[in-house]
Amino acid sequence: MLAASALTGRAAAQGAGLSESNPASSAVAGSIDSDGKVPFHGVHQAGIDTPQQTHVLFASFDLVTDKVPDIVQLLRDWTEAAARMTAGQTAEALTPDPSVPPADSGEAIGLGPRRLTLTFGFGPGLFEKDGKDRYGLRARRPAALVDLPRFNGDQLDPGHTGGDLCVQACADDSAVAFHAIRQLARMAAPNDAANGYGGKQAGVADPYDAKPGVAVLRWIQAGFLPDSPPDETPRNLLGFKDGTQNPGSPYPAERADGKLIGNGSFADVVWVGGEGPAWMQNGSYLVVRRIRIALQHWDNVELDFQEQVIGRKKLSGAPLTGGGEFSPLDLDAADKDGNPVIGDNAHVRLGAASSNGGARILRRGYSYNDGLAMIAERWPPWRQGLEYEAGLLFIAYQRDPRTGFIKIFEKMSKLDLLNQFTTHIGSGVFACPGGIGKDEFVGQKLFQTV
Ligand code: HEM
Repeated sequence: MLAASALTGRAAAQGAGLSESNPASSAVAGSIDSDGKVPFHGVHQAGIDTPQQTHVLFASFDLVTDKVPDIVQLLRDWTEAAARMTAGQTAEALTPDPSVPPADSGEAIGLGPRRLTLTFGFGPGLFEKDGKDRYGLRARRPAALVDLPRFNGDQLDPGHTGGDLCVQACADDSAVAFHAIRQLARMAAPNDAANGYGGKQAGVADPYDAKPGVAVLRWIQAGFLPDSPPDETPRNLLGFKDGTQNPGSPYPAERADGKLIGNGSFADVVWVGGEGPAWMQNGSYLVVRRIRIALQHWDNVELDFQEQVIGRKKLSGAPLTGGGEFSPLDLDAADKDGNPVIGDNAHVRLGAASSNGGARILRRGYSYNDGLAMIAERWPPWRQGLEYEAGLLFIAYQRDPRTGFIKIFEKMSKLDLLNQFTTHIGSGVFACPGGIGKDEFVGQKLFQTV
């Protein structure tokens, strides 16, 4: 089936005068060296415009300290450890001292960098929590770091929602991503390492009376992509190519009202410019959603309907209005009865910039699979029982969530045909500061005068 797909896609793309490869996913940055090391320092944090690695481990943390210097020290330690780990080293230098726990758990020794990127973000709780200005940072909360509104259909689980800090670890090896988060979490709550249990929670007695933690893990989510050839758009668990339209693509995204509309550049869509505080410039806002997909339900739906739901052909990824994968969606095209070929409720129409006053985002999501769970579906046939706890860890970057994700998803959450199969069960919004200079720690400019 996939071989046929590639053929169909290539043939169709040639017919449209386009090459079939995805320029976004094949844009391997020249600076990634042959060992697979993605530079950690730079104008932007790595892991946003880096071509997607095959694995993610997304981690959200709660701050449990009441002291700003603790947070600053943690960010210094994290920065140093991240620079080491993304270069394929242990989080800290190992000293062969048999009387202390090793400084690094060791499971990634010898694996190399595997294109590891560590992208740090600050959640609303760093600035203000339960109405309290707990770190004196409230006045510095960027206007764009809004709390996400409640969307139609949200069934958010607090155990997979929110957080004061986040780290997105992406790598081409799940062991490398897991290892990185494990070391950072341990540095945030050192007693964790000493006693082998969860970090010290505020107000909870610690039998070992070790150092109180600065931040503790709140939730983590692992995700994966198929190991497709680098210039092919990977497929999600629906079996559709996901990531065809994204900023930076040279192909026009859509035709609407007779006009061809592009995908926008990273500068336009992703990177915060002069409108943001200095510490956010060249940074971006991350919106994460844990979206369960009713896979058993989806697998029983006719191919034709699956394609109408998305608005694209399943095998080739081409728009229902024809051409190849990268041909523009023709949102004006109608059938002989005058009905739109890409339906009013099709996912891609609702995601298109022209349907959302020009709103665009960079999508950088991963599939996830957490086994089985007892689930009651919220759409007919209202199946209840053991189902896959699997879906999409949706991650989007943008200059401003108010004019990006929120703008697009407000309408999509009400009208999208895909909603029959998806439930948003986790969520977060984080401000990811600009890139980290050689002698800087992440977010340094935010803390400079506190
Ligand atoms: C499980 C949930 C979801 C799945 C399986 C999914 C899948 C897809 C697929 C297959 C495409 C077409 C290929 C492409 O252009 O990449 C697409 C496009 C898109 N999706 Fe989703 N998506 C999901 C959730 C969302 C959410 C929550 C948003 C919120 C903003 C979103 C925004 C978009 C946008 C903006 C496009 C590009 C539309 C265009 O300009 O053509 N998606 N998605």
